[in-house]
Amino acid sequence: MVNWLPRKPNTPLMIGFAVAMTDDEIRDAAEYFSSMPWTAWIEVIEADSVPKTYPSGGMHLRHEGAAAGMEAIGRRIIETPVNTEHTELLRNPRSSFIAYVPPGSIARGEALARGSKTTACAACHGESLDGLAVVPGLRGRSPSYLARQLVDMKEGKRRGLWAPLMAPVVADLSADDILNLAAYLSSLPPVP
Ligand code: HEC
Repeated sequence: MVNWLPRKPNTPLMIGFAVAMTDDEIRDAAEYFSSMPWTAWIEVIEADSVPKTYPSGGMHLRHEGAAAGMEAIGRRIIETPVNTEHTELLRNPRSSFIAYVPPGSIARGEALARGSKTTACAACHGESLDGLAVVPGLRGRSPSYLARQLVDMKEGKRRGLWAPLMAPVVADLSADDILNLAAYLSSLPPVP
């Protein structure tokens, strides 16, 4: 298993693509993507109730028509395209996402990130959490991506060269802690 969630099919897909690439292609892709400026991509909204969604193609899409409506957010983050048609059908790379997060989660995540329960993230991820040397930036990134990485690291499924540095950081984080951290980090504008 390569991902903590065995039902998630796109991690093995991505591994397949990466394995098929040459080292030069990987370097070219890394240089190309890292040359792009960070832009705001996700609007994070604290909300008690959220549009009803269903899973499709690795995303939460909003129900439309008769099935549309609202439901309680519970202990979830619902990350959904601003414009379903642009994201799902046109794959428009400029059509962004909304992440609904539980009320209070951003403030709780900020306290955790500052070190209330585990090592302060800034110690390694940079003072503004925008990355430091090999340590990736965390600001303004997809909350579902961030949460999945934290769970994978906690479950020992992410085993890169530098992953052991994260092991003690995530060891005692609960599912709610991970949700709160993801809510806070994704709410930060990508450029400090
Ligand atoms: C002791 C240093 C250290 C501390 C403290 C630390 N991190 Fe990390 N973190 C790392 C390193 C190194 C990586 C890269 C791991 C890899 O390359 O596999 C990483 C990776 C991550 C990733 C994956 C990012 C990606 O692009 O896939 C997330 C999410 C993350 N850290 C969140 C946090 C949070 C949240 C905190 C604070 C609660 C934190 N980290 C504290 C060192 C640290």
